[in-house]
Amino acid sequence: MKNVKNYLSENKDRFLNEIIELLKIPSVSADPAYSQDVLDASEMVKSRLEEAGCDIVEIHETAGYPIVYGEKIINKDLPTVLVYGHYDVQPAEPLELWTSPPYEPVIKKTDLHPEGAIFARGACDDKGQMYMHVKALELMVKTDQLPCNVKFMIEGEEEVGSNNLSIYVAENKEKLANDVILISDTGMIANDVPSITTGLRGLSYVEVEVTGPNRDLHSGLYGGAVANPINILTKMIASLHDENNHITIPGFYDKVEELSSEERAEMAKAPFSIEKYQDALAIDAVYGEKGYSTNERNSIRPTLDVNGIWGGYTGEGAKTVIASKAYAKISMRLVPNQDWREITELFKTHFEAIAPKGVTVVVKPHHGGQGYVTPIDTDAYQAASKAYETTFGKKPIPQRSGGSIPIVSLFEQELKSKTILMGFGLDSDAIHSPNEHFGVWNYFKGIETIPYFYEYFTEMTKK
Ligand code: BES
Ligand code: MN
Ligand code: MN
Repeated sequence: MKNVKNYLSENKDRFLNEIIELLKIPSVSADPAYSQDVLDASEMVKSRLEEAGCDIVEIHETAGYPIVYGEKIINKDLPTVLVYGHYDVQPAEPLELWTSPPYEPVIKKTDLHPEGAIFARGACDDKGQMYMHVKALELMVKTDQLPCNVKFMIEGEEEVGSNNLSIYVAENKEKLANDVILISDTGMIANDVPSITTGLRGLSYVEVEVTGPNRDLHSGLYGGAVANPINILTKMIASLHDENNHITIPGFYDKVEELSSEERAEMAKAPFSIEKYQDALAIDAVYGEKGYSTNERNSIRPTLDVNGIWGGYTGEGAKTVIASKAYAKISMRLVPNQDWREITELFKTHFEAIAPKGVTVVVKPHHGGQGYVTPIDTDAYQAASKAYETTFGKKPIPQRSGGSIPIVSLFEQELKSKTILMGFGLDSDAIHSPNEHFGVWNYFKGIETIPYFYEYFTEMTKK
């Protein structure tokens, strides 16, 4: 690759302005109030793929939001890279915690981003990172250096479970045929400590409902004499972890992949400061499963967390009431070999079994997906590693992430190809939180690194 740095500096302002335009669209897939915006975002992605040099760009309608498909096939005998990303974003609430409005992107300096970071919902997850690939394609096409074929598949329902993408992938295996899948929707350790994500956790997400009496009751007249669904629900939830923070659901750990002591020792080499970690979150201690380090707890170990809990009176002042119902949303992050459907069943059976008389419990499975591990002994991983070495001047560290992109395991199952996760965000970029941002340096580093992946991967795999 030649002239990469030149092309970037010549087009710096335009590359920033374009991502800012995309970030102005509130494409929240979870909330129907934004449905036109989600569609607008898909149209913008389509136009930008055309401008960047794709020969074919199509909007594929689904039962939900459309999938934008683009391709540039230069020679059928050359390898094909399939880029996946998403143009939908998480809801921005709570709005009052944003220091600038979520859909009015601004560049502000931070301690970790001295060159500035773009603050907006979706800046890092995933519009900013997805758009790096569009600009990397432009760079390769406009400088006449695209070394292989490329296909894009950008969806609008990642944040709500990718159900329609699963159908699209299963129905379009030939169209989507590729030699490797490339995704930037994860993070790296630090700007001076590049890493490649080699694992994603699986997920089982459920909602539980506990019903007691047939109506809300006066907590004086009935209190103490009937089961209070909120008391019961919190007690049931508390019982899901033991004193070592081990999950108590029978069978939950049966299939968990145990890492060898060598693998754990290798993981422990990644630079990590517990003091900085605690300071950044304003906590005075970390918390988790006994016998595992913080980095192990948030990547190679499964978890169970309440994501939301409600019931009864939560308005101003006091109301003396025993609610008829209590609810919670619970996520379980899973590790390799755990099957999300099986875990969902184990949860349901156990949670119903521990319900005392006097209440009824309903467990509603929401969505889920399998975890994924990227093997590092492949041409694709080596090409990615070499690309980072070229642009960061350092070999990247392979590191498993705690997050989930459930569709990745489905790609492997349906398309039989491996995924390379080249994430350029930082954990502190506040994805899904107020004040999400993405470093300007990271954005351009991504655009710079991606073309080298294409180059090395093509060299390594060309027939
Ligand atoms: N991009 C994230 C996943 C992610 C972020 C993985 C950082 C690793 C590092 C993705 O958009 C996401 O939020 N996934 C959801 C699951 C999905 C089914 C809603 C998640 O992990 O909670
Ligand atoms: Mn994402
Ligand atoms: Mn996300």
